[in-house]
Amino acid sequence: MPKPAKVFFCSECGYESSKWLGQCPGCRAWNTFVEEPVKKAGPAAGIQKQRIRTGSKATPLSAVSLSDHDRVSSGMEELDRVLGGGIVPGSLILVGGDPGIGKSTILLQVSRYLAGNGSRVLYVSGEESLQQIKMRAVRLSGAGGDVMMASETNLDDILQLIETEKPDTVIVDSIQTVFREDVSSSPGSVSQVRECANVLMQTAKSGRITIFLVGHVTKEGTVAGPRVLEHMVDTVLYFEGDRSASYRIIRAVKNRFGATNEVGVFEMAGDGLHEVANPSSFMLEGRPEGASGSAVTAVMEGTRPLLLELQALVARTNFGLPRRTAVGIDQNRLNLLIAVLEKRAGLSLGEYDVYVNITGGMRIQDPSVDLAVVSSIVSGYYDRPLRQDAASFGEVGLTGEIRGVSQVSQRVREAVKLGYEVCFVPAVSMRSLDQSLRAHCVPVSTVSDAITKMFGARRAERQ
Ligand code: TYD
Ligand code: MG
Repeated sequence: MPKPAKVFFCSECGYESSKWLGQCPGCRAWNTFVEEPVKKAGPAAGIQKQRIRTGSKATPLSAVSLSDHDRVSSGMEELDRVLGGGIVPGSLILVGGDPGIGKSTILLQVSRYLAGNGSRVLYVSGEESLQQIKMRAVRLSGAGGDVMMASETNLDDILQLIETEKPDTVIVDSIQTVFREDVSSSPGSVSQVRECANVLMQTAKSGRITIFLVGHVTKEGTVAGPRVLEHMVDTVLYFEGDRSASYRIIRAVKNRFGATNEVGVFEMAGDGLHEVANPSSFMLEGRPEGASGSAVTAVMEGTRPLLLELQALVARTNFGLPRRTAVGIDQNRLNLLIAVLEKRAGLSLGEYDVYVNITGGMRIQDPSVDLAVVSSIVSGYYDRPLRQDAASFGEVGLTGEIRGVSQVSQRVREAVKLGYEVCFVPAVSMRSLDQSLRAHCVPVSTVSDAITKMFGARRAERQ
């Protein structure tokens, strides 16, 4: 049977099909299939196979030396922590993020640092000319070594360069611009991205070369191209943050060599990205005094507690249906918390629009922000500010109970360190709290208990 000239790929998970499908059988996503010309098996594919075959040998686990995993510092403590303690030589690291967020900047900074410490670094850019990169490098502060630069998009040429330059570290900026000639679809397409990443992974593993791939993100916030890209690489780092604000957060969403969900906080200055030593105070900078609807919470980002400000705006609905908008937390979670407030605390939010925002462009999935979300909405609803020196955290259940959270002591300690005298904490978590911190904590067991303790028994009714 003749091969079909076209194949279809799911742009989410890379599922392959000979015909277009409305729903992907692989990941169940709708309307994700894109048509791409089928690839020809070129000579390069044959060479690739040959190389894999000759290079494989088995080693007893006991004979594998751990020095293979000696980590190299990236020159930035914050980035090292996100990577699990430094760069593991021979690993493939995907760096994703919105355009203009600072991916090229941080990788150029890391390249210069590594080169300054005697590493050979090759920076391959398919997006910018060498002059543009030079202009960026001139802006960067600090000493650095000489980095080998190339403006190249053809994968075979890049491999050739790696062969001749013998670098320890390679930066590919970005994977969406790289293409293989024997894959007939255009650069950035599902099959190109997948093929190129695959070859680069083999290069990284067989030559113990650390490769950083820059990946663009789609509107939904995932790396463009198939999800399989995330499965292939060792580490996936995401840049978050408000592009208009100066800080940037790097988060590891996958890490074969360390914990995920560690975050590193950076500030974009005129001379590159700088580490932020005390992220909590940075996040709370500019918090309004005595404003209703503002609450402070402590979340755990990996192993580190982080204080954040949550803001809620509760405004009368102009048109029939009230609007609920969540930025930084899950929209469904907000709807759920509003329903709990209506049913368990007697707030009639039906005629009010509710907007909740985590300032600083952070996105939080930790349900321990629930209590702070609830208290900011209540504060906005009654138009009464919370105590300026109070923080709160706890998960809210559907019956209105405040459920326990992990690492209570660490969170309270961070809040106290930053001058927050009072913490509203789940009553059930008091058991695991350090004795020395008890004086700072007010245990709350239900949503209405928390409202009473935060705003007093006689709350001013809304005008
Ligand atoms: P860039 O690293 O080019 O982003 P990406 O590669 O993720 O698309 O970041 C560029 C942005 O950062 C751009 O808006 C200019 C700004 N910037 C600074 O503010 N200071 C600097 O020192 C540099 C190099 C860039
Ligand atoms: Mg860039």
